[in-house]
Amino acid sequence: MITGASSGLGLATARQFAKLGLNVTLLCRDPVKGENAVTQVRQDIPNASLELMICDLASTESVRSFVRKFRESHSQLDILFNNATVIKQRHSVTQDGFETWSQTNYLAPFMITTSLLDLLRNTSSARIINIAVCLPTNFVLTLKISNPPITIVPSLHSSERSSAFSYSPLRFQ
Ligand SMILES: NC(=O)c1ccc[n+]([C@@H]2O[C@H](COP(=O)([O-])OP(=O)(O)OC[C@H]3O[C@@H](n4cnc5c(N)ncnc54)[C@H](OP(=O)(O)O)[C@@H]3O)[C@@H](O)[C@H]2O)c1
Repeated sequence: MITGASSGLGLATARQFAKLGLNVTLLCRDPVKGENAVTQVRQDIPNASLELMICDLASTESVRSFVRKFRESHSQLDILFNNATVIKQRHSVTQDGFETWSQTNYLAPFMITTSLLDLLRNTSSARIINIAVCLPTNFVLTLKISNPPITIVPSLHSSERSSAFSYSPLRFQ
């Protein structure tokens, strides 16, 4: 499963996974862009096993709904590629009360990963791939997690994004 599969690296990865014969779930925010992505991959690999699922990572409700639907039709997950990113220079806040940037790039992947961990554990060699451009300086994250469900406390603050780019893989248990 690839988040942000409508363009860029996500779409390229979907194409590569399909070429390898994998069953690929493309998670996209926009249904039209998602259908476009599926069409593009199918043009290259006509027999590709593709599934489009819609989810807005900037909404906890949308993420929960996606997780529910995914779990209804899948009992295992081999690869979770947390690829989707939003790059916003201006401060904005989601309906959940988080910074859009922080919710999309960090909280949503965390929610998806933790919500699908048992499906990942159902395969012998599951992989979680997290991709990021940079972490902001003075990044403070407070999460309160009870299981189930996962509760995320909106006390997340970041300073202006750092202009110095660095790679910072996030780790999940
Ligand atoms: N390209 C590079 O040079 C580079 C370098 C270093 C790291 N990276 C990292 O690689 C990853 C992919 O980069 P890219 O260049 O391929 O980016 P991209 O072309 O801008 O693609 C970003 C993807 O994330 C999706 N997305 C954004 N907000 C979303 C939301 N709220 N819910 C669901 N999906 C959402 C976008 O969907 P929409 O189409 O709907 O907007 C799009 O599919 C990112 O994590 C990026 O930080 C890229």
